[in-house]
Amino acid sequence: MMPVEIRRGVYCLSAIDWGIRDFHGYSTQKGTTYNSYLVVDEKSALFDSVKKPFLSDLLHQIRAITDPEKIDYLIVNHVEMDHAGCVPELIDIIKPQKIICSTMGKKALYDHFHQQDWPYEVVKTGDIVRLGRKSVYFIETRMLHWPDSMFSYIPEERLLISSDAFGQHWATSERFDDEVDLAELMAHAMKYYANILLLYSMQVEKLLGEIKGTDLAIDMIAPDHGLIWRSHADRILGAYASWARQETGRKALVIFDTMWKSTERMAKAVFSGLLDEGISTKLMDLQVHHRSDVATEALDAKALVFGSSTLNNNMLPRMADMLTYLKGLRPANRIGATFGSYGWSGEAVNQITAALEEMKIRIVGPAVKVRYVPRHDDLRACVELGRTVGAAIKEDLDD
Ligand code: FEO
Repeated sequence: MMPVEIRRGVYCLSAIDWGIRDFHGYSTQKGTTYNSYLVVDEKSALFDSVKKPFLSDLLHQIRAITDPEKIDYLIVNHVEMDHAGCVPELIDIIKPQKIICSTMGKKALYDHFHQQDWPYEVVKTGDIVRLGRKSVYFIETRMLHWPDSMFSYIPEERLLISSDAFGQHWATSERFDDEVDLAELMAHAMKYYANILLLYSMQVEKLLGEIKGTDLAIDMIAPDHGLIWRSHADRILGAYASWARQETGRKALVIFDTMWKSTERMAKAVFSGLLDEGISTKLMDLQVHHRSDVATEALDAKALVFGSSTLNNNMLPRMADMLTYLKGLRPANRIGATFGSYGWSGEAVNQITAALEEMKIRIVGPAVKVRYVPRHDDLRACVELGRTVGAAIKEDLDD
């Protein structure tokens, strides 16, 4: 991959990770990219870097533009290792005059690399560093998604370098949003938001408001992963506003795991009840659906219905994994219900109900528990549970 000039004198340097399939629990079935940006001006600046194994790719691309030692400033918008893993090696090679970062960025760099004598320069929101013809305006984006995170805005180019925000885990040879299928791009952006940013939705809403308030003109958004938004920046900003408000529709998920198909039969009956109420519903068997794909579908689903068999006095392990993951993402304003089969003790349903209550998911309908194998009446109770959830969805959304 060679550098791509995205604005005059501004280059995108991408390391494409075609093979990665797991990003600390997020399934990256189509790989990812790590994007670094280089501005060549009277002073040259490199914005973020790449994951450590891709250092030689980055250096090769820098050398296609300039001698690395001619880079004056290393700007660290985010310290997570996929963007900062090769910072020590880069500093040895570039010998930057300044390492520009937020206050929390300096702390995080120190805690990662334990170097006190690097030439740190701390910036805060509103600070401007002049490069020559271009300048960089900094916006701290604390907890989006780490304490150190910040954006770099280049007003002369109406360009926002947005760190992780607005990114996608999608390995492509294309660099711009208008070079790929927009529906697929938005699906990757949605998965990224659902799995990485959902729990920081309040901060996203606040930040979008602040950006509007400052009247920053943004023509192009350049994230550290995936495609650059040059034709559809308004589309991704609008989508983030909606996702941050946790807007949901007439949609439900029936999420289950099963031992001997009894809980699966119950899941199908609940599904059928939801359909009776005209609810768009997805049946998600955790034996085939990855937790991060379930979390993506949950982004715009009003109801989350969970079912598990009981195994050794517990819910099935995949269900425990799913609930732990979802709890961390903090979906809000959802309703839920539970069901499951058991042999003699039957703890799973109560455990799931407790987990949903802890997530502040409002439980509707009576939980349905079935000993061993459901009879016709048991399945009828599951259909009724689906109808109850469907009616509650409509009632909530029509309010
Ligand atoms: Fe792409 Fe938070 O790292």
